[in-house]
Amino acid sequence: MNDCATKIELIEALSNDAYRIRFAVDWKAFDPGQFVMMGIPGNVVFLRRPFGIARFSNGVAEICCKVVGRGTRALSDAKVGTRIDVLGPCGRGFRFPQKEEPAILVAGGYGIGPIFGLCEALLAQGRRCILYYGARETSHLLYLDELAKIGANVKCSTEDGSHGARGMIAELLEKDLDNIEKPSLFACGPHGLSKAVAEISRRRGVPAQVSMESYMACGIGVCLGCACKDADGNFVRTCREGPVFDVRELQWDSSPL
Ligand SMILES: Cc1cc2nc3c(=O)[nH]c(=O)nc-3n(C[C@H](O)[C@H](O)[C@H](O)COP(=O)(O)OP(=O)(O)OC[C@H]3O[C@@H](n4cnc5c(N)ncnc54)[C@H](O)[C@@H]3O)c2cc1C
Ligand code: FES
Repeated sequence: MNDCATKIELIEALSNDAYRIRFAVDWKAFDPGQFVMMGIPGNVVFLRRPFGIARFSNGVAEICCKVVGRGTRALSDAKVGTRIDVLGPCGRGFRFPQKEEPAILVAGGYGIGPIFGLCEALLAQGRRCILYYGARETSHLLYLDELAKIGANVKCSTEDGSHGARGMIAELLEKDLDNIEKPSLFACGPHGLSKAVAEISRRRGVPAQVSMESYMACGIGVCLGCACKDADGNFVRTCREGPVFDVRELQWDSSPL
């Protein structure tokens, strides 16, 4: 994990409230599911914010940032050349499935960032994977062109039915699981989606990993602000022991957000 002062190399709108941001870093690799803590020095928002790493190549990393508050607004207003501080890669990423197990990736909303990174890495290794991707409406489905370019098999749903199946992505996933042998699930998205995937995993006895969301202050395991409860009732830090957990490791009734 490195802490570096760098500059934005590219910033591009992906929808009316989401941006692709690229910046040079001094790390050599990342595990899909790991994240960066990123901030603009001297900005009104004192603490850096966590973002899943979507891509990394030739020393340049990419995140997808959805604007929800002051920190993400400040990042979306930044320009090419704006100075940023980036700590990363942080946390524990997804553990790859056994070769024979098809990886079933599940993304909701901006959870597509880390899941895109995982999808690209799995396909580069010649692994079988299917991506289930849900959003509220078509304009919130991001990275579709990039997914097509890397040859990903993507099944979409939107809540308004404007693209793919109508409804929640967990419903489409569960319908299809009957026809997939030895699936292994990998999810990133809002808490409701992680919880639904954990429930599907329990009901069907299918292995599943989820990337958890928590409020993070330090991102390095010191402040305990990101703690959630494990299956035995002990606190675990999302930024250190996670953000990716096997769903069986966690207590689902007392989750963070
Ligand atoms: C491991 C991890 C990876 C993440 N990856 C991404 C990513 O790839 N792209 C992306 O756009 N966002 C990602 N997030 C969420 C992102 O960090 C928050 O949206 C951001 O910190 C909000 O900062 P803000 O100052 O704009 O909002 P604030 O002003 O702090 O809050 C505005 C609103 O957002 C909610 N919020 C704040 N923090 C979070 C959070 N951590 N999770 C959910 N809701 C929150 C608050 O409850 C409030 O309603 C990730 C979070 C974690 C923990
Ligand atoms: S964010 Fe500080 S311990 Fe996890």
